[in-house]
Amino acid sequence: MNEPLIIFDTTLRDGEQSPGASMTRDEKVRIAKILERMRVDVIEAGFPVASPGDFEAVKAVAEAVTESTVCGLARAVEKDIDRAAEAIKPAKRGRIHTFIATSPIHMQNKLRMTEEQVLERAIWAVERARQYTDDVEFSPEDAGRSEIDFLCRVLEAVIKAGAGTVNIPDTVGYNLPHQFGALIKSLRERVPNSDKAVFSVHCHNDLGLAVANSLSAVLNGARQVECTINGLGERAGNASLEEIVMAVRTRRDIFPCDTRLDTTQIVPASRLVSNITGFPVQPNKAIVGANAFAHESGIHQDGVIKKRETYEIMRAEDVGWLANRMVLGKHSGRNAFKSRLKELNIEFKSEQDLNSAFDRFKDLADKKHEIFDEDLQALVTEVDLEQGNEHFRLVSLKVCSQTGETPYANVTLAVNGSEEKAGAPGSGPVDAAFKAIDSVAGSQGQLLLYSVNNITSGTDSQGEVTVRLERGGRIVNGHGADTDIVIASAKAYLNALNKLVAPAERTHPQAGQPI
Ligand code: KIV
Ligand code: ZN
Repeated sequence: MNEPLIIFDTTLRDGEQSPGASMTRDEKVRIAKILERMRVDVIEAGFPVASPGDFEAVKAVAEAVTESTVCGLARAVEKDIDRAAEAIKPAKRGRIHTFIATSPIHMQNKLRMTEEQVLERAIWAVERARQYTDDVEFSPEDAGRSEIDFLCRVLEAVIKAGAGTVNIPDTVGYNLPHQFGALIKSLRERVPNSDKAVFSVHCHNDLGLAVANSLSAVLNGARQVECTINGLGERAGNASLEEIVMAVRTRRDIFPCDTRLDTTQIVPASRLVSNITGFPVQPNKAIVGANAFAHESGIHQDGVIKKRETYEIMRAEDVGWLANRMVLGKHSGRNAFKSRLKELNIEFKSEQDLNSAFDRFKDLADKKHEIFDEDLQALVTEVDLEQGNEHFRLVSLKVCSQTGETPYANVTLAVNGSEEKAGAPGSGPVDAAFKAIDSVAGSQGQLLLYSVNNITSGTDSQGEVTVRLERGGRIVNGHGADTDIVIASAKAYLNALNKLVAPAERTHPQAGQPI
């Protein structure tokens, strides 16, 4: 029997630190529910002190999830730990994850603290967190660039103070696999009480090595891996959950441990996260990319038909491709709609929200024959957005696009409740629509990214548009879906504008600690 490998998902916390990926409370609950269904062991739901919204989101996840441990992040300061404790209070199993940087570069330049001060504060933070819960995790931030003697002292002290999990982050993704594996091995050998805690790893992907480093750590004794769906996360992201889980499962001959995950939830979870954050999954992404199980070359196709294992090391259905896809259509009634939503773990707060989603479903079914789970997820996201008291709302859009003519868009927006109209030409229909919107809303930010993806296949598919805007260093992503991609684009643009005009009040976890 293999030893357990604990999967700690931080999509809702580190994943949310991807520029523009911030999620609402309800979106976090939807993602947490699918993680729970996947049997993820620990869900890091957010950084409660970051903003009142994030506090509420962690609390809502703690209330909604019963099978997984729910964790809140806290710097090693009183207000962070107290706020995290308050947020996870409703959880059946709650964890506080506290951290402080231990590398010379962070201690000297960011914290302006000596080694002794950092050591003392780390012990203090773990003891304080232990006053609220028995399940405390400690991370020496930037461990990958810390001095090993000091790291050993800190780990020994925090384990003594009551940390049941010690997490070793390669915060800036600097380590190489053999080096990171050796670090974990040395720490386990040199820290005298290392057998009293679970060793965890948290690797960033700056050199594209997050998964390789995490797996090397597992081979050297780490028994918890921190990861995110689709590898989302700060800068180049974190280790991707799907790659870690499937590597360990597929190479049982190499790894002495395994997870307890239901891997058939992987693709639905990947789609949900992509839909909610607006971060598309690249087609050649391992496990969850559209081409991950597609065979283009004739030789490969022939081989797979004769014996699947000639070119496939995993089965598509084992990671959720093709599974969980029930088709609804124009004749599906309210009950079929409701029961499919229930199976997808989507709940509405009120009958009114359900009715609004059902109306949208009927509209969509008029335009598109078959409605898949992905369409339902997009539709629910739209209903969620509607609840957001948007500053700008699309009332109507008319675009003329014709060979030999300059495209022209007329738009009507509700701005804080009152209607305003404008028209503008553009180089194409989307450009004209954005310019018309700008004439009403004013130019709010610089467009960094515009991307369109089809949610399902076929020309009647809904287009899912992501728009990324930047203003004064703040980056937001907007998304919208519609069978008409110009309308989807306008919705995505307005969604991003609404985020830009909303006050930004988040504290970043890795900001200097206001001790
Ligand atoms: O990357 C990092 O060091 C972190 C810590 C808070 C664990 O995200
Ligand atoms: Zn991180």
